[in-house]
Amino acid sequence: MTAERRKPQVRIAASLLAADFSQLGRDVKSLNDGGCDEVHFDVMDGHFVPNITFGAPVLEWIRPLTSLPIDVHMMVQEPGRFVEDFARCGADYFTVHAEACAHLHATVQSIKAAGMKAGVALNPATPASVLDEILPDIDRVLVMTVNPGRGGQQFIKGQLAKIASLAERLPWRATGADLVVDGGVKTDTAPGCVEAGASVLVSGTGIFNHPDGVIAGIAALREAIDPSGA
Ligand code: DX5
Ligand code: ZN
Repeated sequence: MTAERRKPQVRIAASLLAADFSQLGRDVKSLNDGGCDEVHFDVMDGHFVPNITFGAPVLEWIRPLTSLPIDVHMMVQEPGRFVEDFARCGADYFTVHAEACAHLHATVQSIKAAGMKAGVALNPATPASVLDEILPDIDRVLVMTVNPGRGGQQFIKGQLAKIASLAERLPWRATGADLVVDGGVKTDTAPGCVEAGASVLVSGTGIFNHPDGVIAGIAALREAIDPSGA
């Protein structure tokens, strides 16, 4: 494949949900060493999803430990309430669920006004068409390939068609917007996501539970999506 025809490199984001929380600082630093491209920070509120994880104060602690972009994935009902907090604590991207926002357009505008890039996530049962009126306003779409709420679940293959249909809608991608895939992304499922048009792959257990460690987990994912090492 010539350089001209080569697709832009797909980025790998590590979900801290699968990190060792007693060693969070060590694990965040190891992402830099491992050549990871992004940190993925899963916030859960016990309402939108049953589990509760962490919030802006934890982001404030880890922000100085990495120069990688941090995407805050808000699995929270009405996440617009927390825009200012997370902007102040150093989030680069703030990704909200379409299902959790009564006024999605207003929430997206408030994210951008706070200086962050705006992402919108879709649950597996939510069609891409809910974004029809808002696609030009957002910086990334996150397609959930598991139901949100916990790590280590099985990839839902039926979501590949949704990823492909979003990838084909070129006007919004042409602006440099990202198509993020989150859930069950491992060495066996990652190539299909890239084939469908993903630009960012989120992986939690695939990276942090790799038997040879975090750096090997990132390398294995990269090898799976680009065996030529290009
Ligand atoms: C699930 C989270 C994911 C999760 C992915 O609700 O949004 O980011 O950490 O974990 P794995 O990669 O283990 O499916
Ligand atoms: Zn996530």
